[in-house]
This record gives sequence, C-alpha cells and structure tokens, in this order.
Amino acid sequence: MAKTDTETKRKAGTTASTDIAQVRNFSIIAHVDHGKSTLADRLLELCHAVSAREMTDCLLDSMDIERERGITIKSQTARLNYTSADGTQYVLNLMDTPGHVDFSYEVSRSLAACEGAILLVDASQGVEAQTLANVYLALENDLELIPVLNKVDLPSAEPDRVRTDIEDIIGIDASEALEISGKSGKGVPDLLETLVNLVPPPEDRREHPLRALLVDSWYDSYLGVVMLVRVYDGEIRPGMRFRLWATGAEALVDSVGYFTPKQVQQPELLSGEIGYIISGIKDINQCRIGDTVTDKFVQPESPLPGFRPAVPVVFCGLFPADSDDFPHLRDSMKKLALNDAGIHFEEENSLALGLGYRCGFLGLLHMEITQERLLREFDLDLITTAPSVVYRMNYKPPESELGEVEIVNPADFPDPVKIESMKEPWIHATIFTPESYVGGVIELCTSKRAEEIELNWSGQRGIVTCLLPLNETVFDFYDSLKSVSRGYASFDYRFEDYRLGDLVKLQILINGDPVEALSLIVHRSRAEARGRSICASLKELIPRQLYKVALQAAIGGKVIARETVAALRKDVTAKCYGGDVTRKRKLLEKQKAGKKRMRQFGKIDIPQSVFLEALKVKDK
Ligand code: GTP
Repeated sequence: MAKTDTETKRKAGTTASTDIAQVRNFSIIAHVDHGKSTLADRLLELCHAVSAREMTDCLLDSMDIERERGITIKSQTARLNYTSADGTQYVLNLMDTPGHVDFSYEVSRSLAACEGAILLVDASQGVEAQTLANVYLALENDLELIPVLNKVDLPSAEPDRVRTDIEDIIGIDASEALEISGKSGKGVPDLLETLVNLVPPPEDRREHPLRALLVDSWYDSYLGVVMLVRVYDGEIRPGMRFRLWATGAEALVDSVGYFTPKQVQQPELLSGEIGYIISGIKDINQCRIGDTVTDKFVQPESPLPGFRPAVPVVFCGLFPADSDDFPHLRDSMKKLALNDAGIHFEEENSLALGLGYRCGFLGLLHMEITQERLLREFDLDLITTAPSVVYRMNYKPPESELGEVEIVNPADFPDPVKIESMKEPWIHATIFTPESYVGGVIELCTSKRAEEIELNWSGQRGIVTCLLPLNETVFDFYDSLKSVSRGYASFDYRFEDYRLGDLVKLQILINGDPVEALSLIVHRSRAEARGRSICASLKELIPRQLYKVALQAAIGGKVIARETVAALRKDVTAKCYGGDVTRKRKLLEKQKAGKKRMRQFGKIDIPQSVFLEALKVKDK
C-alpha cells in the first residue's frame, strides 16, 4: 500500500509510533480445546506483553468460569509489539474470540475487526464442527486464513492426516501449514513471521468521517461502560461527541486507548486500530455489539454492515429457592445484565415457585453459564424451570387479527381450540463423529425428529448433517450425543427457519392440581413418552406421604400417563396385642377415614430439587 505523509507519524506522547502498514489485526479460530488460549499466552510471552511473574495460564480468559471450564466466553484483545527477523517493528492486535456456537455473533463481529485469522487445528483430533463453523464466519468476513497444526508434541498427533482433513473438509491448501505446539512454544516464532507476511495491513481511511465497529462492551465498576472498537474510517479522540448508529445513544469520549493486555491510554485511535473508548454512557444496552460508532457532527452516509441485535433463543424461569431471596436475585440479575447485553429477563410470578424471572439466553451454554455465575458470584440458590424455545402462533378468528404471536412461556399457551397454527424453530445441525459411532448418532437424530439427514465421509470420520427442531436439542441432546459417541462427536448448528408443528402443552398434575413449573410445550408425537418419563421420575423423587399421591401427565383435559406414590403405612394395630379382631378393624377404618380427609385437604410440599431433577429426565 502506498504511504502518505500522515500515515507514518503519530503525535508525541504515543508509546509506540504506529505506521499503519505495520499493523496486523488478527484472530485465532479453533474448535473448543484445540489450544487457542494456550497459543495466545505464548504469543503474549514472545512479544513480551507480560512478565513471567504476571503469566497465569490462559491470561486472556479473565473470568473464573472461563479458566475452570477451559472455554472463552467474552472476547478479549491484546496489542503486541513484535520485531520481525528483518528488524521491522510490527503492531499486532490479537482478538480473542469465544469458541462456542452460542456466541457466534460475537465471533463474527470480532472477526469483522480483523484482516486475518490463524486457523488452529489440534493435530491429534482434526477438523471439528466448530472449526468448520468458524471458518465459514472467517470466509464471510474475507479474512486471510493461516492453517496451523497444533499440539504436535503429543504422541497421538497425526499432522499428515489432519492436513488432508483440512484440505478435504474445508477446501483450503494446507500443504504449507505450520506444525506448532502452543504448550512447548515449538514453531510459534515461525508462526509470527508467517503472520506478518501473509496478513495484509488495514486500509488507511483516516480522511473519511469516523466509522468504528463496536466489537464488545462491558461494564467496569470504576470506568462505567467500556467499548472495544475497531476504527475503520477516520479517528476518535477524547472530547469528541460520538453517536451510535443503531441505538442512537450519544456521549462525549472521556478517554481512548488499547490493552496490552493492560489498559494503556492514548491520545487517539486511528483508522485501522483496535482499542477501547470510555465515555459517559452508563447503560450497556445502548452499546450493542455490531453497532457503528460515528461522529455526531460529521455523520457518514451509512453504518458498517452486519449489525443485528442479540436475539435470545432459549428461555427458562429462574426462581430463588428461598422466596425471601427475591430482592437479592433482582439485584444480581441487574448486575449481570450490566455486563451481558445478551440476557433478556422479565419478572414472573408463578403459583408454585413464587416471584422470579423469565430469562432469555443466546443458547444452552449461555443459560448454563448464567446460572453458574448467579450461584457463584452472587451466592444464589436457584430453581430453574424447563428450558423452552420461542414458538410462533396464529390465533383463529376473531383473535387472528393479533397476527403472529410469540410464546416463550408454557404458562402463556392458549386454549388449543383458539389456535389456528403453531410454528417452531428448526436448526441446521452438523455433527462430526468417528466412524464407529455414526449409526448411534443417526439413530439419536432420528429419535429427535430429524429430517434431511445426510452422511458424508472424511477419511475415518462421518459428517452427519440434518435439520432438527431446536426444542428437541434443549433437553438432553448434548448428553445423549456424548454418550452415544463416548464423548467423541462434536456438534454445531445454525438457525434454519420456523416450521409448522403440531405442538401441545403438556401439564403435570399432582393430586389433580396442575403444577405450572413442570409444564412443557412439546410436539404431540413426543408428548406421551415425555409425560410418562416425567411421571416415573417424579414417583421416585417425591417423598412418600401418609396418603396416596396421584401423578398425572395431561394434554388439555386428557390424561396420557399416570403414576401413584404409595402411602406410608403406619401400623395402627401394633398396639393391639392379641385381642378382638373387631377392635383391629375399627382402628383400620379410622385410619382409612383419616387418610381420606388428609388427601382432600392435604397439600404436598414438593422439595425444590424435584423440579430440576424431574425435568432432566430422558425420553424412554
Ligand atoms: P476454548 O477457550 O474453550 O476455546 O479452548 P482453547 O482452544 O482456548 O484451548 P486451551 O488453550 O484452553 O487448551 C485446551 C487444552 O489443551 C489445555 O489442557 C492445554 O493445556 C492443552 N494444550 C494446548 N496446546 C497444547 C499443545 O500444544 N500441546 C499439548 N500437549 N497440549 C496443549
């Protein structure tokens, strides 16, 4: 790229003078556990971004849960200074990306901030479902892909097989792919050289009106909302008044800078750079990922492409186990939401569980992580209702004029006679599995109402693709997939469309009373099996009472499954040692009458754990 006068110099006061031709913005994409965070640590070390004393494993995974579970949830970034073999000074901006499908929109925005990506593949495993999903995102963003084989120090590494894997499945040339070990550091210096040679520098568009892509935002208790941006056009400096294109939020820039990963303040951020903006904005909901930061007084003609608001796909109710804890739950939810614009929540009052929240999440992992954070960071004991997806429904006349209505809570499921049609979300699933488990995986998909199942092969591994209803995957799909494949299958999906479905509300009745927290929306063909298994597991879970307890599963008024918890039997005749048989009979009659009365008036206390356990059941 041609250099201009303004290009090479930055103002006095900057820590490193940046020539935009020497900037490289890149990301590492990989399947879960293929070693992304470990490689990022090595890069930080090689570029002396952190001292040996500060080095903890997986430095960019800053949340405790991230480190423990070895997954990346929030994207982080680090600006590194690198001197290449020929002595050129480079500035490398490393964007860390979350690997999980729930966060694929975040990944896609992080990738949009880069010009290149290291495609990291575990040489002992090969290409997996998320490798492929991330490659598609990278290709959509026109990134220069650098295939790299990691973990070659492992005795089980098969670099040649994995090379063929990359070429066959992804369709890119992997003959030159570097062989590295993120753990020992072998090959990582070569990777840095390859990176600066292959990844193109950002385009210099300093003369245009400001446009910066909002890649991430979070709440810092000292600084307020911090926005991570990639500046495409123009520049941004403290004192400027900016405007966010989609949300319309406006504020004054307090300070800008970048992370090394320590926060370093700068006089400005220029076109091509990645850094943070701290401003007067207090509400994270105004800083949506994918939005465009513009200069309030010099508006560009259009925003940067690709913005879409985070849409929750899985819903569940969260209730405090102790109803006195509701105010604590409310405060905790607000605090969590400060940092996670993906969570959607509104208050819900349930007869069985009291006050709580109906929450929407980006996916199952997001839901699980949120529950775990509430438990750990806020010390909350919670009851979770069955996860549900977003259904769409049309009423029969006269309510048909309401148009298409969304239903996320089984409690809102209307009287079936009023329903004209219902639709449920379907996904396109991709499952990679070793040859010997292909049969089991296909059987599992079929049992989950899969359609258009296709099987392809790459060497010894099968790639199963199919269409699946999302609600079939929210219960036990991951667990079942793990067990049929002994943990070897990998799964990824993308939303396909909404399709008509014969859906019903399955109610669970205990002694004739419906228990709202246990209701589910299910496909009619699956209702009986699910009802039967919930009743069977409730039978095991509900403590025995002094009288019989009837457990029923019903659709509308029709009971489709039933179980009975037998009564505890107190031997009332024990005290009659010998004696007259009529006396014994009298005592038994009295007991029977007493039990009848209890059954009429008795309320069963269902232990909180029963709700969770009952919903974990598998279809028989
Ligand atoms: P996510 O954050 O979930 O995407 O995982 P990740 O891709 O960041 O993987 P991570 O760096 O956490 O590594 C996963 C596991 O692989 C860890 O136990 C690492 O110690 C191990 N690992 C990473 N790189 C290497 C390597 O080069 N060789 C060996 N033997 N193990 C490695």
